[in-house]
Amino acid sequence: MPINSGVISDYEISNNITLNRYACIVFWLTLRERCRELSLNRLLGGDKNPESILSWLIVLPIKMFLHKLSIVDAIDFRSDTVTWPTIEMREAMMKARVGDDVYGEDPTVNELEKLAAEKLGKENALFVASGTMGNLTAVLSHAGRGELAIVGTDGHIFTSEAGGMAAVGGIIPHPLPTDYEGKMSLAEIEAALMPEDPHYARARLILLENTYGARSGAPQPLSYLASIRTLADKNRLRVHLDGARLFNASAALNVGVDQIAGYVDSVSFCLSKGLCAPVGSLLCGSEEFIGEARRMRKILGGAMRQAGIMAAAGIIALKEMTERISEDHANARLLTTGLASLSGIRIDSEAVKTNIIFFELDRDDYMTAQYVVDRLKTDFNILVGVAGERRFRTLTHYWVGPSEIQQLIEALKYVLAGKA
Ligand SMILES: Cc1ncc(COP(=O)(O)O)c(C=O)c1O
Repeated sequence: MPINSGVISDYEISNNITLNRYACIVFWLTLRERCRELSLNRLLGGDKNPESILSWLIVLPIKMFLHKLSIVDAIDFRSDTVTWPTIEMREAMMKARVGDDVYGEDPTVNELEKLAAEKLGKENALFVASGTMGNLTAVLSHAGRGELAIVGTDGHIFTSEAGGMAAVGGIIPHPLPTDYEGKMSLAEIEAALMPEDPHYARARLILLENTYGARSGAPQPLSYLASIRTLADKNRLRVHLDGARLFNASAALNVGVDQIAGYVDSVSFCLSKGLCAPVGSLLCGSEEFIGEARRMRKILGGAMRQAGIMAAAGIIALKEMTERISEDHANARLLTTGLASLSGIRIDSEAVKTNIIFFELDRDDYMTAQYVVDRLKTDFNILVGVAGERRFRTLTHYWVGPSEIQQLIEALKYVLAGKA
C-alpha cells in the first residue's frame, strides 16, 4: 500500500527522510571533528616532557593500549594527501549549489575556476579530478603524438603518473637529470633540442615541478623559472608547471603564486594536499589553452556533472587554507630539529625548506626502515612512509602539529632503543 495518504506526498516523505539524514550526518561529522580536535592523541601527547618518568611509565603504555583498541585516529605523516577535509568544507559541500558542469552550469565549479584563474593571474582555469589528470590534460593540450616533452628523471610526471603522456597521447618523455632543487641544466635542455629534420622527434614542451617532491619539496627559485622561460621562447617550446604544491612554493619563496605562474604557459595545482580539500586540482592557462584542455579532459572521461559538491570544498581551500601553509613549514623545521637530535638518525636539515622531510637510519644492523615503520604503526598508531631500505619520508600538514611531532619523536626514540 502506498504511504501517500494525500496529506504528505511520497516526495515530501523522502525529502524529509533525506533532510533528517543530512542533519544526522552533519551532527555526527561535527561531533567527530570536534573530538578529533580535542582527541586523546592530543591530550596524551600534549606538552609533557618526553624525558619524564611519568611519560615512559604511565602515558606511553596507556597510549599504546588505546592505539591497540583503535580508539584514536592514526597520526599520519606519510603524505599531505591524507588530509581530511575540515568541518567548514564538509558543511560547504552539503550546502553547495550545483548544476551540470558539462553544460557549464555548475555555479560552484564556475566560481572555483574563476577564483583560481584570478589568484594565478591566468585567463581561465579548469577543475579536474586530480593532479595526475591536470598534468596529463595539460601535456595532451600542448603536445601531439611523436613530440617530445622534456622532464626531470625524478619528476612526479615522469616517475609516478603511469607514463600517461606516452600511454594515452603518444608523447615521448625526454628525462634529464636534476640537481638538489630539482632543476634541470639549461645546457642539457638545449642539447636535447634536435634541429628540424624529418629524422628527429620535435621537442614541444618543458615540464617543471614546484615544489619538487623528490628533492625534499625544494622550492625552485624564480631565476630558474625565468631562464627556462627565455630558453622556451627562443626555441618555441611551451612550459607546463606541475604545481601540486604551488602554495608551498609561494610561501617558501615569499612570492605570490601569480609571480610563479607568470613564467609558465600552464600550471596545475592540487586542492587535495596541504589545502585539505578531499578531491580536485585546477589547471590554469590562457583562454585558448583551457578551451583545448576542456576537450582533452572530456577525452579522459574527466568531465563531471554536479561537481560543485567537490568544488565547494575547493573554494574554502583557496580562501581559507593557503595562508596557513607556512605553519606546515614551521612544523617541518620542528620535526627536523627533533629528528636531528635522535641518535641513530641521519638527516640533511638544510634540505628541508617546505613540508617534506626525508631522513635515514644511521646504523648498520637488523633495523630497516620497514621494521621501524611497522613498529611505529603497531605500537603507536603513527604512520610514516618508507622511501628506501633505510630511508623514510614524512610530510607535515594541517592534521599534524607540534603535539603529533612530539609523539613521533618519542615513539622513534622508543623503537630505536629496541634490542633485536
Ligand atoms: C608533485 C606531484 N604532482 C602530482 C601529483 C599527483 O596528484 P594526484 O595524486 O592528485 O593525482 C602528486 C601527488 O602526490 C605530486 O606529489
